Amino acid sequence: MSFNLDKITRENVKGLSPYSSARDEYVSDGSTMVFLDANENPFENGVNRYPDPQQRGLKAILAEQKGIKEENILLGNGSDEVLDLLFRAFCEPKQDNIITLPPTYGMYKVLSGINLVENREVLLTHEFQPNVEEILKTIDSNTKLLFICSPNNPTGNSFSTKVIEELLKSFDGLVVIDEAYIDFSSEESWTSKLAEFPNLIITQTLSKAYGMAGIRLGICIASAEIIAVINKIKPPYNVNQLTQEKASSRVLDIDAVKNEVNQILAERAKLEEALKTVSFVENIYPTDANFILAKVDDATLRYNQLLAKGVVVRNRTTQPLCANTLRFTVGTSKENNSVITALKELSN
Ligand SMILES: Cc1ncc(COP(=O)(O)O)c(C=O)c1O
Repeated sequence: MSFNLDKITRENVKGLSPYSSARDEYVSDGSTMVFLDANENPFENGVNRYPDPQQRGLKAILAEQKGIKEENILLGNGSDEVLDLLFRAFCEPKQDNIITLPPTYGMYKVLSGINLVENREVLLTHEFQPNVEEILKTIDSNTKLLFICSPNNPTGNSFSTKVIEELLKSFDGLVVIDEAYIDFSSEESWTSKLAEFPNLIITQTLSKAYGMAGIRLGICIASAEIIAVINKIKPPYNVNQLTQEKASSRVLDIDAVKNEVNQILAERAKLEEALKTVSFVENIYPTDANFILAKVDDATLRYNQLLAKGVVVRNRTTQPLCANTLRFTVGTSKENNSVITALKELSN
């Protein structure tokens, strides 16, 4: 494996310099300065100024908490924006390709369509693990990104560390590990391996364990060199002021986040036990996330029956390897009791 960032960066991106905004040139350090540089409305209301385009305050908090450097972080309007930026930085439309491992998160495919980049799908094995042999056969000189979602949505399991490591070592494009659900997992984040693998990109989000889906904050973690390339193309003010403030206070309140995660994990165990007693549940897949994938006799029938009882779950029956499966997000104790009651009523 010989990873060369320059070789995999799009030609037009190499020549770009990032847009230089007024707030890039001078960010308030708390001292009293007169800001007449950005054509803002001067009357204070908390959001009348442009936000810091580099989100320095929030990045400092995240860097300390994750044991990485600020230069290893890029933030986006949800991880969906971060994922889109990866396509735009590294994939030449109509020429390059990416590899995804279905059944997996649907946005990789959607983004490949939007960006006119071929999506090569290599199915997971029946144990929902990456099929290394097939992946390596599918890679060619135009393969730029390999998307690994671990813990995986919708299956819920984490991928084997050994398998991911093998892929990182044998692929000389970028390996994107989507860790949206890592805070629910017993596995360690790949952020600790950043120095070891120059082709590693990790994405995380505040939308899941941190309970902040509404503010849209996605995190990209990679080498300083990779982050510098993506920084060239990110919209200057992609993370708004309110999001930066909310995210900072939530990330600092890590004890509250951990407490909620622990409650969700306890509820997940309760829901798993209840699902085992439901007559039409045929299999409950091991999960490392805040949801459970279960195989039932007839997913569409059961989905509609639950809907009629006021409970919305996700019908994953059309996904490869997921025939007749339903995905249950773990809710509050009260919400989980509702789904358990509904399932029991349907169970006889
Ligand atoms: C695997 C995975 N990645 C990313 C996302 C999207 O995250 P965000 O809300 O940060 O855009 C989701 C949302 O469901 C997801 O399941």
